[in-house]
Amino acid sequence: MIDDITRISDAAPALVLAATTIDQLRGVESDLLGKRGSLTELKKGLGALDADGRREVGAALNVARASIEQVIETRRLELESVERAATIAAERLDLTEITTSRPRGTTHLVTQTWDRLVDVFVGMGFTVAEGPEVETDWYNFEALNIPAAHPARGMWDTLYVDLGDPETVLLRTHTSPVQIRVMTETPPPIYAVMPGRVYRRDTADATHMPVFHQIEGLVIDRAISFADMAGTLESFTSAYFGGSIHSRLRPSYFPFTEPSAEYDINCVFCEGKGCRTCSQTGWLELGGCGMVHPNVLRNVGLDGEEWTGFAFGFGLDRLALMRHGVDDIREMYTGDLRFLEQFPS
Ligand code: DAH
Repeated sequence: MIDDITRISDAAPALVLAATTIDQLRGVESDLLGKRGSLTELKKGLGALDADGRREVGAALNVARASIEQVIETRRLELESVERAATIAAERLDLTEITTSRPRGTTHLVTQTWDRLVDVFVGMGFTVAEGPEVETDWYNFEALNIPAAHPARGMWDTLYVDLGDPETVLLRTHTSPVQIRVMTETPPPIYAVMPGRVYRRDTADATHMPVFHQIEGLVIDRAISFADMAGTLESFTSAYFGGSIHSRLRPSYFPFTEPSAEYDINCVFCEGKGCRTCSQTGWLELGGCGMVHPNVLRNVGLDGEEWTGFAFGFGLDRLALMRHGVDDIREMYTGDLRFLEQFPS
């Protein structure tokens, strides 16, 4: 029996090496060591031996098994790495075709402006919020101190959505409703800007589009004054337009602020000398602002004795036009590449 064991054990390495796949190796392993394998068959003969014989042959069987297992394991590692390399080679993707150069697009001027404005305000410590474009009358008007039939409703030519009771659901006419949402959802202090798309029943011309963008600002804290607002807007102006452009505030009227003001900057076309774009005034009007009206604070459940604040709303497209010296807002929306390509991001 010892001879048989030696024969099997000596022959094993050649058999193992002859296996060229993991499957074949598994076959060889089972032929040698499996339930019906040659070593296992020999082991069955142990019962017929005396105690000494059993010990001797048993030990030889164990040695043979261990050395065969070792050879198989080594071969398995070899074959696995060969097969892995083959799989990788077979699954290799040829990506060279994609390197043929295609012109790279850029973000739209509106998107660039949006991002830049948000960057400037985030740099000043503001957070960013957004709200829905389809709004209810409450958020767009009522909560902003503009009740139904108030003459100020005429300031916004509203597009209504045919949903629910007549004139209760609309396309927001400004980003101011997001102020209401922010004040309702977050306890003060609040320092937030709210960029977004807005809609008005307007005919497109050089200064109007029925769909355009605004960026709203809101600050609510203790002891906020008109001077804080003026300072914030002046800082914003020089951060966005550069140090040579300044801001001024003119008295105005908005139902949701008291006092209210119009925010102007030096004309970027003539730098204040007076030109056609600024109607010879040297100033360009960019938006409205003011101290948040006590009725608005009441509508969102804030105590006007404890909290005060200011708000502002600018035309985002208009800011972009002014910054880049473009004199017709429609240019932004025709999709003309000759225009868009002048603003690579
Ligand atoms: N919502 C106003 C508009 O669309 C702009 C505006 C004015 C926003 C004054 C404000 C504000 O937050 O305080 O014309």
